[in-house]
Amino acid sequence: MQLSNRVQNLTPSSTLAITAKAKAMKDSGHDVIGLGAGEPDFNTPKYIIQAAEEAMNTGLTRYTPSGGILELREAIVDKMYRDHQLTYQADQIIVTTGAKHALYTLFQVILNKGDQVIVPTPYWVSYPEQIKLAEGEPIFIEGKEENNFKISAKQVEEVITDKTKAIIINSPNNPTGMMYSEEELQAIGEVCLKHNIIIISDEIYEKLAYTDQAHVSIAQLSEALKRQTVVINGVSKSHAMTGWRIGYACGRKTIIKAMTNLASHATSNPTTTSQYAALAAYQANDHEIEKMKVAFKERLDTAYQALIQLPGVTCVKPQGAFYLFPNVTEAMERTGFDSVEDWVTAILEEEKVALIPGTGFGAPKNVRLAYTIGSDQLKEAIHRIERFIIRHQQI
Ligand SMILES: Cc1ncc(COP(=O)(O)O)c(C=O)c1O
Repeated sequence: MQLSNRVQNLTPSSTLAITAKAKAMKDSGHDVIGLGAGEPDFNTPKYIIQAAEEAMNTGLTRYTPSGGILELREAIVDKMYRDHQLTYQADQIIVTTGAKHALYTLFQVILNKGDQVIVPTPYWVSYPEQIKLAEGEPIFIEGKEENNFKISAKQVEEVITDKTKAIIINSPNNPTGMMYSEEELQAIGEVCLKHNIIIISDEIYEKLAYTDQAHVSIAQLSEALKRQTVVINGVSKSHAMTGWRIGYACGRKTIIKAMTNLASHATSNPTTTSQYAALAAYQANDHEIEKMKVAFKERLDTAYQALIQLPGVTCVKPQGAFYLFPNVTEAMERTGFDSVEDWVTAILEEEKVALIPGTGFGAPKNVRLAYTIGSDQLKEAIHRIERFIIRHQQI
């Protein structure tokens, strides 16, 4: 049986191979420290779980409207105003099965064959594949390490063609943890307005920003930019709710209506119980999630300090999310490796530390470390990497 061209052209997730190997080693009794997990290690806060239980116990277990229950969309309206002074109406919001599904559905409704989407590198692994699944073409522009992995308005201007339909801005970024400033967003936004390019603002790590400046959404910079932007967000990372699968998109009504229509044929609705859980999350204050943020920030400081001491490793200090994305070019050279995959595999085999190679994020000189484990484990993992580098050092 011949599978469709669509799936044959899909690139398997680069994070999966190493994660599967790490898991197999762990299952066979090895003391593996995993730095791969892109999800908080904290439990979902109790009040959220209780809200889900209550929903189930009171019979809220049936289909809901495709775009999500009105109460949740209204709670998201309030959240967008509270956090960004953005005014949306409930019909400008669709609740989806995770932010991933919001993005997938969005590409399906805005792209025609051959339409181009600008994707800054390093990027989250699913963007290019989702764009290709919608018959679009990802156009990569390099977020240079010397520019803290961020792209400029000039770079955007340079790649625009008459097929450019959209651009993705992911701030704080996975895998680099970098955030765009208001001025940088303003400049990129102006180019997008000039060429009528839809801005997809993936703000899933919004609540994990460790800078003095609050996270800025490009949509909040002007009424025109708000109209031009579709904001993507969800509870996965902010509320330690990755398994509940609730995300959302906010944008102009025509796009949200088309997405809702498509979702009605794909999922019917996001899981009902999870919607009530997310409702409790958005109706509460951010006290519980602040605690997680403080813990992440401490780990970041600890891991960053240890990491930059490693021979041949440099690292731009992240401002948000829960990832470090060091450049290991020199460490690889010193230890006799010329591929980051081989380097990462050797570290896993010899030192039982699972890192993610940067190749799948469009950055083959880097590796991604998620600090979604406790500080002691983090320190131990970095110590093991150091041991590996010193043992193999050839110069
Ligand atoms: C940048 C980015 N966007 C979106 C998502 C999707 O999140 P979810 O589907 O869990 O809401 C992720 C998850 O790893 C991510 O890293």
